[in-house]
Amino acid sequence: MADRRPLIAANWKMHKTPDEAFRDASSIVEMTQQAVKTVDILIAPSFVCLERTAKALSGSGVALGSQNMHWEAYGAYTGEVSASMILACGCTFVILGHSERRQYFGETDKGVNLKTLAAVEAGLVPVVCVGESLKEREKGETFNVLDRQVQEGLKNVPFKPDRLPVLAYEPIWAIGTGLTATPEQAQQAHEHIRAGLEQICGKTLANSVRILYGGSVKPANIGQLMQMPDIDGALVGGASLEPADFASLANFGQ
Ligand code: PGA
Repeated sequence: MADRRPLIAANWKMHKTPDEAFRDASSIVEMTQQAVKTVDILIAPSFVCLERTAKALSGSGVALGSQNMHWEAYGAYTGEVSASMILACGCTFVILGHSERRQYFGETDKGVNLKTLAAVEAGLVPVVCVGESLKEREKGETFNVLDRQVQEGLKNVPFKPDRLPVLAYEPIWAIGTGLTATPEQAQQAHEHIRAGLEQICGKTLANSVRILYGGSVKPANIGQLMQMPDIDGALVGGASLEPADFASLANFGQ
């Protein structure tokens, strides 16, 4: 198995003011000083918190990401921000195609693809989210949905060995519901995604791409999830809001 460094990511969604983000990011830095040596840690606050959070993370080894961006470099796109804007705030990662963006804001695979291309072009590492709804799972469509989202989302995206895209498998039915996919269910999906990646970028690179699991990850279940061979980290919503909980997730191997 390729040597994939774990990535534990906090998705703060629409929570925290800049002051709260600064305070909580500072606490996380304090509590993850050992973990950063062996695990990549990422915090993705809202746009308005990026600059303050960057100050808290400065010199810590904990990375900053945003939760979205537009694919255009600039222009008349009211309410949007571009790759260069989030880069200027200190981001090195950007979460794209989160199911909440797809579900509530009409994001499509095509849009996710444009954003992913723009992110890689700008020098950001995209964290591309994929995942099936409960209905799709019950109808036996999970793998088809994942194949479509991965193939269309990553269409023509260059796989640069030093800046490989990250994927996040987040079954929609497990997000914020308290229902976690079992480690075996998640492993099955991750294995399937990796096999699909092999068709896109070849075996060696597919083996180097990190695939995170997201959906009600918490301190009580991270250990089991991380034991699965194709689970390389976690994208965490609810349990990332409390610094001590998120730090304990990042410290899963300590
Ligand atoms: P959750 O959210 O951990 O609250 O389920 C995960 C996500 O949406 O990234």
